[in-house]
Amino acid sequence: MIEKKVSKAIEFRRSVRKYDASKTLNKEEVRSCIQQATLAPTSSNLQLWEFYHITKVETLKKMATACFNQSAAATASQLVVAVVRKDLWKKRVASNIKFLEQQFGNQKLKNFIDKKKSMDYYKKIVPTVYSDFFGLFGLLKKILAASMGLFRPMYRELSSGDLRVIAHKSTALAAQNFMISMAALGYDTCPMEGLDSKRVKKILGLPKKAEINMIIGCGHRAEGGIYGTRFRVPFEEVYREV
Ligand SMILES: Cc1cc2nc3c(=O)[nH]c(=O)nc-3n(C[C@H](O)[C@H](O)[C@H](O)COP(=O)(O)O)c2cc1C
Repeated sequence: MIEKKVSKAIEFRRSVRKYDASKTLNKEEVRSCIQQATLAPTSSNLQLWEFYHITKVETLKKMATACFNQSAAATASQLVVAVVRKDLWKKRVASNIKFLEQQFGNQKLKNFIDKKKSMDYYKKIVPTVYSDFFGLFGLLKKILAASMGLFRPMYRELSSGDLRVIAHKSTALAAQNFMISMAALGYDTCPMEGLDSKRVKKILGLPKKAEINMIIGCGHRAEGGIYGTRFRVPFEEVYREV
């Protein structure tokens, strides 16, 4: 097997809790890693995420407090907040439709089926899955899916809770893309969910419906910044060939 650069970056990445303040972090390079994050796969290509790149000292201090002053946040020279914006689904559907219209624009009958299928997906299926009314419509859809599922394979993740999981899943994939891209440049990171989400949202001026997926501390590892040897349960315990 040919060793790929990505394997090295995966190996290099550790959760670093203490950063070296004497070493600087290039803002533009971090920004480019955030751009790589947005190339992650995303459910229905809805991209229900936003990334806040914190570079100002004053904001960094406020964010560290909201992260309970844990050292991965307090010593980080920059922070990246991965935010879930499930509330933006209609806007993202519209962007997808616009993109498809541009793609299919001048092509004639040959692609008609593909176009209709794709358009139906964004005009009918996604709105059916994402529409809700105080959780009631979601519950109804779930009951309906369970009944139909008795007779044929059925998509079942239809409640608003399910959709939150779906949106967080995609955002976490983007966060991992970011951390691996950073590792490829020799930069360190630490994902964090130990935080006061209400305070974080207030600092960033986020709307009520936005959710914090994770905050990622960024910098260069200081001596003792990695808290010990990497621990994983034996691979045999988690790997099943079926
Ligand atoms: C979603 C998520 C949340 C985490 N939250 C924290 C956190 O709040 N503080 C922290 O120090 N580490 C946090 N971690 C880091 C884990 O503790 C770490 O990934 C794990 O111990 C494995 O170590 P490694 O990343 O060095 O391989 C988090 C990791 C993930 C994926």
